[in-house]
Amino acid sequence: MPQLKQKNILVTGGAGFIGYHLTKKLLEAGANVTIYDNLSSGKIENVEDNPQAQFVKGDILDTKTLLNLPQFDIIYHLAAQVVVPYSMENPSEDFETNAHGTLNVLEKARKDKARFIFASSAAVYGNPTQLPTQEEYGFHPFSCYGLSKVVGEQYSQIYAMQYGLNITILRFANVYGSRCHGVINDFLEKLQRDPSKLEIIGTGQQARDFVHVADIVDALLLATDETAIGKVYNLGFGKTIKIIELAHIILDILKLTGKTKITTTNVSWQGDIHTIWFDITKAKTELKWTPKIRLEDHLKTLVKERKLI
Ligand SMILES: NC(=O)c1ccc[n+]([C@@H]2O[C@H](COP(=O)([O-])OP(=O)(O)OC[C@H]3O[C@@H](n4cnc5c(N)ncnc54)[C@H](O)[C@@H]3O)[C@@H](O)[C@H]2O)c1
Repeated sequence: MPQLKQKNILVTGGAGFIGYHLTKKLLEAGANVTIYDNLSSGKIENVEDNPQAQFVKGDILDTKTLLNLPQFDIIYHLAAQVVVPYSMENPSEDFETNAHGTLNVLEKARKDKARFIFASSAAVYGNPTQLPTQEEYGFHPFSCYGLSKVVGEQYSQIYAMQYGLNITILRFANVYGSRCHGVINDFLEKLQRDPSKLEIIGTGQQARDFVHVADIVDALLLATDETAIGKVYNLGFGKTIKIIELAHIILDILKLTGKTKITTTNVSWQGDIHTIWFDITKAKTELKWTPKIRLEDHLKTLVKERKLI
């Protein structure tokens, strides 16, 4: 594991789901961490639960505040508008946060000569015809969110090429774990409210590659190593599961099989991807990263944590 003790590290989006877990791990490794977040989707508890981190409430679109932060050795750029349907309804706002915002954070990295690690997404591949999808499949975005992440990646590449910035791009599949949002959280919240029914948005035939946040955080730390400079990595579990199957696994754990009526809306949101299934060979061989936590095992922990059983 790279040496992070005493390193000055900025985590944009550190009040969010992944940012919380990353900050916690960085603090445990002895780093000095500053969280920069406007709390638009992030939560103050995620900041308060990492009391050793400095917190600056700020927007990545506010360059005056951003560029005047102290100098950092490493910048993790996680702050983003992360909701695909929201990006389709508010394309300009999504672009501002994810594309323009990323450019601003890159400027801060250029000023500091900092290592820059960018949280990208499976959404850059759109609806891939190659499954499992390799990094080389390239950009085929299918939503405004996917496109704004492509722009963020391409600015990062230009900053590497033209200014010699040391960047790494990490494309996440579907990340889950404690404090998560997304489909797993949606199912658990619905079942907590009313265990007699579970509505799936879409057909339930969409498939996702679920990767645990602790595995993602391990990769985020490994990405600070010199070998990862200039590289792009897929980070998933390398398996895919249909949403309907996910629903059945959760009902099974909760002993609700046969008791909960599953329905599907059959209409998905604009920009919804049919299948996410990552080829993670590159991260395994080059980053020496292997995801360890199996979805089925962690779901049991998650339902206990939510006091569902
Ligand atoms: N969770 C996933 O499954 C997943 C999958 C692929 C990619 N990602 C990427 O990982 C990163 C973190 O995602 P997450 O799941 O933790 O989401 P999240 O919504 O929990 O965290 C994003 C954080 O960014 C902050 N933020 C948003 N706009 C901001 C702005 N203008 N200025 C400052 N802060 C701002 C929010 O307040 C929030 O705390 C994002 O870049 C996301 O696109 C996540």
